[in-house]
Amino acid sequence: MQNISVIGAGTMGNGIAHVFAMNGFDVKLIDINQAALENALKTIDKNLDRMVAKEKITPDQKVKTLEALSTNTDMISGVADADLVVEAATERVDLKFKIFSDLDQHCKPECILATNTSSISITKIAAQTSRPENVVGMHFMNPVPVMKLVELIRGYATSDEVTNRVFDLSKKLGKVPVEVNDYPGFVANRILMPMLNEAIITLQEGVAGVEEIDTVMKLGMGHPMGPLQLADFIGLDVCLSILQVMYQGFGNSKYYPCPLLVNMVASGNLGMKSGHGFYDYSQGPKNAVVADNFKK
Ligand code: CAA
Repeated sequence: MQNISVIGAGTMGNGIAHVFAMNGFDVKLIDINQAALENALKTIDKNLDRMVAKEKITPDQKVKTLEALSTNTDMISGVADADLVVEAATERVDLKFKIFSDLDQHCKPECILATNTSSISITKIAAQTSRPENVVGMHFMNPVPVMKLVELIRGYATSDEVTNRVFDLSKKLGKVPVEVNDYPGFVANRILMPMLNEAIITLQEGVAGVEEIDTVMKLGMGHPMGPLQLADFIGLDVCLSILQVMYQGFGNSKYYPCPLLVNMVASGNLGMKSGHGFYDYSQGPKNAVVADNFKK
């Protein structure tokens, strides 16, 4: 596999494109929005500069990485020669179904179709295509250039050959692939999201404030970010949608999204990306302070 097409130039898409290009693959980053593509290239450039400054890569590797990257606003021409497509579009079922049905028509028959979905069923996505054995979940973690894990999700029909090839490919990216089966939330979010939800319930019940809850988990459990800070980082809308998938998928009240989370999403407080969540990011992520609503 040499030609990789990445669909969606948001946070995850640009991180995935960055990692493939840095590891010697030819990458096409595809998005219908030209401005999103330009922003993605700026972000990749900035993240590569950070890696050069920390001597993780040489200036020459930065140049080669950028040379390996091209962008395209047209999906059909952008995937024509792809050996692997990694879809990282917005987390909407209808959108992903349409993309996979289109990919099936326009990709080479042997092309592997991977999705970076955080919660939508791989089996249902694969069912939109005539090649469900070639469809697999390749779930990267944010920030993609830093986090080592690729959660490799086998749909009901994913073949052994495709699983093994994507497993080996993930290792070539310097990642650690972990194979899991297709159940709601897979493994990462099945365990992470109830913890984040519980932190929000703890806040809602007034057991402790935002900083106190985060400090307990950072200093007591060695987490790099507290759960409320992490929820803001992931996006509160993303957390809500994953919890809803698990609540519907299992019909178990332990996945019921906390009403405070639902209200924050409804009011547009989505965390870091909107500037407000449990913290206020108006002075930049490094200078975040507890949001006014949660000040004592
Ligand atoms: N690109 C390249 N390098 C980056 C980077 C990026 N986007 N962001 C951070 N880094 C590097 C920094 O250069 C730094 O490198 P060194 O260790 O060599 O100094 C390192 O990462 C740490 O960065 P910072 O010093 O700026 O900040 P930090 O120490 O606070 O760490 C963090 C930031 C890595 C994000 C850390 O807080 C962390 O690990 N947080 C938890 C992240 C997490 O849990 N992610 C998973 C979310 S769940 C998900 O993604 C899946 C889903 O479906 C919801």
